[in-house]
Amino acid sequence: MKAKMTVNKIYEIDKVDPRIYGSFVEHLGRCVYEGIYEPGHKTANAGGFREDVKELVRELNTSFIRYPGGNFVSGYNWMDGIGPVKDRPKRLDLAWRTMETNEVGLHEFMVWANEVNADVNMAINLGTKGIDDARNIVEYCNHKEGSYWSDLRKANGATQPFKIKTWCLGNEMDGPWQMGAKTAEEYGRIATEAAKMMKWTDDSIELVACGSSNNMMPTFVSWEATVLEHTYDHVDYLSLHCYYNNKKNDIKSYLAMNIDMDNFIKSVISICDYVKAKKGSKKTVNLSFDEWNVWYHSNEQDAKIAKEAPWSISPPILEDIYNFEDALLVGGLLITLLKNSDRVKIACLAQLVNVIAPIMTEKGGNAWRQTTFYPFKQAANYGLGTVLTPIIEAPTYGCEMFESVPFLDSIAIHNEEKSEVVVFALNRSEDDVIELTLDLQGFRPEKITEFSEMSGFDLKQVNTNADASVKPSDSKDAKVDGDALSAVLKPLSWNMIRVAVK
Ligand code: AHR
Repeated sequence: MKAKMTVNKIYEIDKVDPRIYGSFVEHLGRCVYEGIYEPGHKTANAGGFREDVKELVRELNTSFIRYPGGNFVSGYNWMDGIGPVKDRPKRLDLAWRTMETNEVGLHEFMVWANEVNADVNMAINLGTKGIDDARNIVEYCNHKEGSYWSDLRKANGATQPFKIKTWCLGNEMDGPWQMGAKTAEEYGRIATEAAKMMKWTDDSIELVACGSSNNMMPTFVSWEATVLEHTYDHVDYLSLHCYYNNKKNDIKSYLAMNIDMDNFIKSVISICDYVKAKKGSKKTVNLSFDEWNVWYHSNEQDAKIAKEAPWSISPPILEDIYNFEDALLVGGLLITLLKNSDRVKIACLAQLVNVIAPIMTEKGGNAWRQTTFYPFKQAANYGLGTVLTPIIEAPTYGCEMFESVPFLDSIAIHNEEKSEVVVFALNRSEDDVIELTLDLQGFRPEKITEFSEMSGFDLKQVNTNADASVKPSDSKDAKVDGDALSAVLKPLSWNMIRVAVK
């Protein structure tokens, strides 16, 4: 089949905020312990952090990491994680029914984040804690010196402030599973008061208010509207979370699920702008899609572990092993985030290591890349610059979830610094190649510097420690022709094409 995409140099969506390539490290399962941190491992540094994992995180190029939860944060006392490790308490984590040793805390994590070149998106506990705790942690992290909390930080070894810019006001506070869950009114009030005091402590910070836990929540829309009625003047972003699955084993619907993400984003933009109009505000609240991914493969095993081995230290939970079709959807989800780059300024792939993650580790052994590692890595490394408005003409199909799904989904980004246009494209067709023509109006394309495709694998093929062969390979099937580019996109494929332009 044939498809055409037209972009024009002057029709821009917006600049990509590199924070859309964020990730997430929660004290959950083997994400921290046995994931990023494993003293005794042959690659562990003096602080106990695995160098092989750090290398993969750097390769992934995630520049922004949300921490320390997630559901975990709603029962977390950040003070448990400071001071001498030997004095730190062990606590029951009621979110995941595990044991938290607090061996890794604020200081250790900040050092690690710095070593992987990532800024930290710090979540505070607005479940079991409140506004005093909220302003104290900001003072501890960001105030230079001369106050109780800043001097305690110095005494604990960090002479310079951490300067954490972005803070999440709690996590999924609408969810009945959350410790200290709240109604929208209750959350709106506490988030407002916490926000005021946090910004009074450090007026350079940015704040993310909790939106709904997903777009199927019964209070979705009214939650956002009520929370923003309270918090609008005090926050900078509203959060979205969503996880996707192929439980029905329906590839047509599965690969279209980024349309659901797009609808979710558009709805939340409308709510933000409704409150803006209602308040007559000049300020725009943007979106932080701070949890997104595929999550379902591990559900059964997790139920078993929760029943049979509660209160374990770092049990292997939420360890989804991703297959090829998951990588295709993750690619599609990245295209959707890019298409909304005018409003989505933060997005975090949940999570980073072992727990629904692109990187897996074996205790005492290797670290390896899951299938989903690759589309994320390519977008985070090359999807930087200005997103161009795509006009796509492509045949469509129908499926259970949507009446009309284009076989082609695609986006182009102009990287002015590198003088290149980078195209990401998903071919959703199971049978047909797409002969793509890309009209690059206003550019003078010179040559294709890279055409990388992920295709030809069984949809259920996974990467393991022993065999990680689901990965991109080079294609030669693209050429520049005047102001246009033509490329052959294989059936069921994820593609990245880099074109040098003038
Ligand atoms: O990422 C896993 C969990 O999913 C997070 O802890 C929670 O915020 C969400 O429900």
